[in-house]
Amino acid sequence: MTTLVMIAGSPSAPSRTTALMDYAARYYGDTNWQISAIHARDLDPAELLHGQFNGATVQAAAAQIAAAAGVIIGTPVYKAAYTGVLKCLLDLLPSGALAGKIVLPFALGGSAHHALMIDYALKPVLAALGAEIILPGVYLIDQQIGHQNGRELRFTAPEAEMKVNQALDMLANTLRLTNMP
Ligand SMILES: Cc1cc2nc3c(=O)[nH]c(=O)nc-3n(C[C@H](O)[C@H](O)[C@H](O)COP(=O)(O)O)c2cc1C
Repeated sequence: MTTLVMIAGSPSAPSRTTALMDYAARYYGDTNWQISAIHARDLDPAELLHGQFNGATVQAAAAQIAAAAGVIIGTPVYKAAYTGVLKCLLDLLPSGALAGKIVLPFALGGSAHHALMIDYALKPVLAALGAEIILPGVYLIDQQIGHQNGRELRFTAPEAEMKVNQALDMLANTLRLTNMP
């Protein structure tokens, strides 16, 4: 069975990033995939801040990622890069944690000024974790999406919905083509 894990990197709740991850899970609702989520903000802060590689919540997240064929990683842009809490988590993953996985990045920013963040900041970190197949990411701005009751994603721009759906379709097709379990 195909396993997919979604990593949400926002420290906030409610969060557009989290709503986008929920949307992705629903998008694949008619598959028999096993889908799980990791919310960086829910991991033990002491483990994250004190570099506790063997901490229970870090180990659980690492195991979820190890078991997945596909990884969706979503982060808000903070100061022109990914969030600190997401980096804390990524720093504690074992080397090669993303090797052999199909990775789809999403980034959400307040404006389009940092639209290249996925390429100059996020992808190098993903590559350092061993990711070889990183699909073209999608960058969205706050004017394009919102959320209802802090959960359900609302697209306010049709082109944003199209871009997200195309990226999710590409991930699904790539997983099928590579015939990953
Ligand atoms: C501390 C902080 C720093 C931010 N820095 C940037 C930035 O450098 N560039 C940008 O486009 N948006 C920036 N934003 C806006 C967020 O990326 C944007 O609102 C995002 O959609 C928030 O995602 P979330 O709702 O999942 O937390 C920043 C927001 C915060 C709170």
